[in-house]
Amino acid sequence: MAREWAPDSWQDFEARHLPRYEDAAALEEATTALSSHPPLVFAGEARALKADLAEVAEGKAFLLQGGDCAESFAEFHPNNIRDTFRVLLQMAVVMTFASKKPVVKVGRMAGQFAKPRSSDTETQGDMTLPSYFGDNINGIDFNPESRTNDPQRMVRAYYQASSTLNLLRAFAGGGYANLRQVHQWTLDFMGRSPWADKFGNLADRIGEALDFMEACGVDPATVPQLQGTSFYTSHEALLLPYEQALTRQDSLTGDWYDTSAHMVWIGDRTRFEGSAHIEFARGIGNPLGMKCGPSLETDALLKLLDTLNPAREPGRITLISRFGHDKVEDGLPRLVRAVKAEGHPVVWSCDPMHGNVVKSDSGYKTRPFDRILTEVKGFFAVHRAEGTHPGGIHVEMTGQDVTECVGGAVAITDEALKDRYHTHCDPRLNAAQSLELAFLIAETLNAEHEQVRADAA
Ligand code: PEP
Ligand code: CO
Repeated sequence: MAREWAPDSWQDFEARHLPRYEDAAALEEATTALSSHPPLVFAGEARALKADLAEVAEGKAFLLQGGDCAESFAEFHPNNIRDTFRVLLQMAVVMTFASKKPVVKVGRMAGQFAKPRSSDTETQGDMTLPSYFGDNINGIDFNPESRTNDPQRMVRAYYQASSTLNLLRAFAGGGYANLRQVHQWTLDFMGRSPWADKFGNLADRIGEALDFMEACGVDPATVPQLQGTSFYTSHEALLLPYEQALTRQDSLTGDWYDTSAHMVWIGDRTRFEGSAHIEFARGIGNPLGMKCGPSLETDALLKLLDTLNPAREPGRITLISRFGHDKVEDGLPRLVRAVKAEGHPVVWSCDPMHGNVVKSDSGYKTRPFDRILTEVKGFFAVHRAEGTHPGGIHVEMTGQDVTECVGGAVAITDEALKDRYHTHCDPRLNAAQSLELAFLIAETLNAEHEQVRADAA
């Protein structure tokens, strides 16, 4: 029998990367308020995502997960939400067209605030202050007041997540995501990217396919899938007092769900056996992600899978590998083999961002586009060799024309990083780089699709 679980049972376990709140009464006030606020998502929606991810685990679909490294109060704007959503739709269309498989879309949006940091403190000149831990914990400005942890920031983050989610639901279901709009999704500044033309051509072909289907009587009025799309939200379940406050018992099944997002994941730094984060995650019914970096041993992974998914439910676990461009082909196969041998039905997804951070000559944290691409290709190669499904990608990206990752077809140079370096944490792919990555992945998907067809012939 598994140990008892409750939404607060994590409090008896070792918690790393959680903020300390000086004022216990203020923390209590904030979490009590959140506990009585409406859920952001419903259990049934989390189950729908789990069913979609089960299709991915079986090799019948792909997962596209993306968004900011850290959402912020300062960048909260409808245009930013729209632009990220739009680039994710574009990427999904490109990948669907190539693979002939549905793409499950999950935003790192509407709740992705809290960050684990490598150091608890930051020093500038002769002043040392607590690090910035994300807008739901403290502020990015370097002064003592801003860097003080404030529980009311959780409440503000909740309201921001709730209105972000409201807009995403409207975009997904209210006509914007209608496939007839595919041409309108082109972003103005993408005109400079060679991939914008390619996207225009693809939009033409989709338009023709829709015309043909309409002539056959299949149109958005009769087929709801053409009118809108499913779009899910996710974030790292790092700030456990917030997650606990939004964890509710589903009246239908009696199971507990973290209603802060459809899917939550556990980061590479908090996924050790016996951690508070693992304890929390094992008791909620949501689909779970778990980051797998180079330090993860095979035995530890298998134990974690038994803890998090004892019933071996497909779609429950997405393993997000993040090895680095030069380590993935050495490090990933042993994990893939062990999981396959044990028969755990996981989704394998590739985060080509977090193992590829470098400091540029100009002093910025960046990620070279070619390394990102190399890791994705390595991920596909490993799964091809092991006979497993390369199920998805997990990227930090934005719909904005930022200059944070070097390289790409509209080459961002080291000198250009300073022009529009806006991220609150890690460097993101900009809109053009995100679309380019989708096209390059599509080439691989297309080749695999052709291979399957040839094998079947
Ligand atoms: C992240 O996804 O932003 C993150 C912190 O990743 P990881 O846990 O893989 O380091
Ligand atoms: Co990050």
